[in-house]
Amino acid sequence: MATSGNAVNVTVTGAAGQIGYALLFRIASGHLLGPDTPVRLRLLEIPPALKAAEGTAMELDDCAFPLLSGIDITDDAKKAFDGTNVALLVGARPRTKGMERGDLLEANGGIFKPQGEAINAGAADDVRVLVVGNPANTNALIAQRNAPDVPAERFTAMTRLDHNRAISQVATRLRVPVTEIKKLTIWGNHSATQYPDLFHAEVGGRNAAEAVNDDAWLRDTFIPTVAKRGAAIIEARGASSAASAASAALNHIHDWVNGTPEGDWTSMAIPSDGSYGVPEGLISSFPVVCKDGRYEIVQGLEFDDFSRERIDASVTELGEERDAVQQLGLI
Ligand code: NAD
Ligand code: LMR
Repeated sequence: MATSGNAVNVTVTGAAGQIGYALLFRIASGHLLGPDTPVRLRLLEIPPALKAAEGTAMELDDCAFPLLSGIDITDDAKKAFDGTNVALLVGARPRTKGMERGDLLEANGGIFKPQGEAINAGAADDVRVLVVGNPANTNALIAQRNAPDVPAERFTAMTRLDHNRAISQVATRLRVPVTEIKKLTIWGNHSATQYPDLFHAEVGGRNAAEAVNDDAWLRDTFIPTVAKRGAAIIEARGASSAASAASAALNHIHDWVNGTPEGDWTSMAIPSDGSYGVPEGLISSFPVVCKDGRYEIVQGLEFDDFSRERIDASVTELGEERDAVQQLGLI
């Protein structure tokens, strides 16, 4: 990975927010890129939150993290993304009680256009972008389309939290450690239409859907529990998931840079190349294997009608979101 000095530049937007607070200390302690990679943090915030970001930076200093080579704080996207190697686009307006994700398109779309332009203008050649702020897939599309000089595949969105949630649900159901669950996939959008796929997953080397052996649980409990977990957390906490989202963001970038474990894959929302009938260009979640700093979609999986219908429904929603932001002139 190209670096400035010997540190990797990591930009975090919305750094003073809840996810930011859960994320920054773990980045600085090596959980993003590994224990041997120094990082320089660039914190982007809006003016009213700059003081809070400064407070977080003071705390980061006070940890004396050996890997943290410096912190810059700014409200200027151009400065925040100048030379950045890893861009974590977290800052957005979180969904609050009773608010549908669709309502967020207009509120958040405007944030990601100028950020895409700033990444285009100044990011490092090897920049990798992860969009966490919702609606994540479509925000990633907006940023990507406004960064025409950056290879399109560098823009990704987060479904790793859904992936991790699904692993945890199956492991609990089967009373096995989470490490036993492999090859789980989240397909589609990071929304309630997402499809967590157990039919290609494995538990201890055995097919996970067969190990569960309960279609009603799979259909009526597993899928909705995973797909609506974000809303359940908002209902319970009065705020959207923060520490688990930060943890998933670390997992996403760590695996992209360092590779997925042998014999497993992960879920990332990435620009479709047309695989599995997902229209080219939509940022949709797929099963991916990461190696040598690149990801590849796992090919050759087959589906029955049950899975196909669910994937198609989520992909249709992504198409509608794309059309909506197109009409708003954001892409
Ligand atoms: P938060 O409200 O605590 O923090 C958001 C921060 O973003 C605030 O500090 C705000 O000042 C900042 N911000 C707003 N506009 C900005 C801009 N233009 N530039 C820079 N910073 C800006 O929210 P949070 O809990 O940290 O959540 C952040 C986002 O992540 C939300 O959109 C939430 O829905 C989303 N989220 C996604 C997932 C996922 O799995 N993809 C999971 C959880 C949360
Ligand atoms: C989550 O999955 O926890 C969040 O995306 C929920 C939300 O809408 O902020």
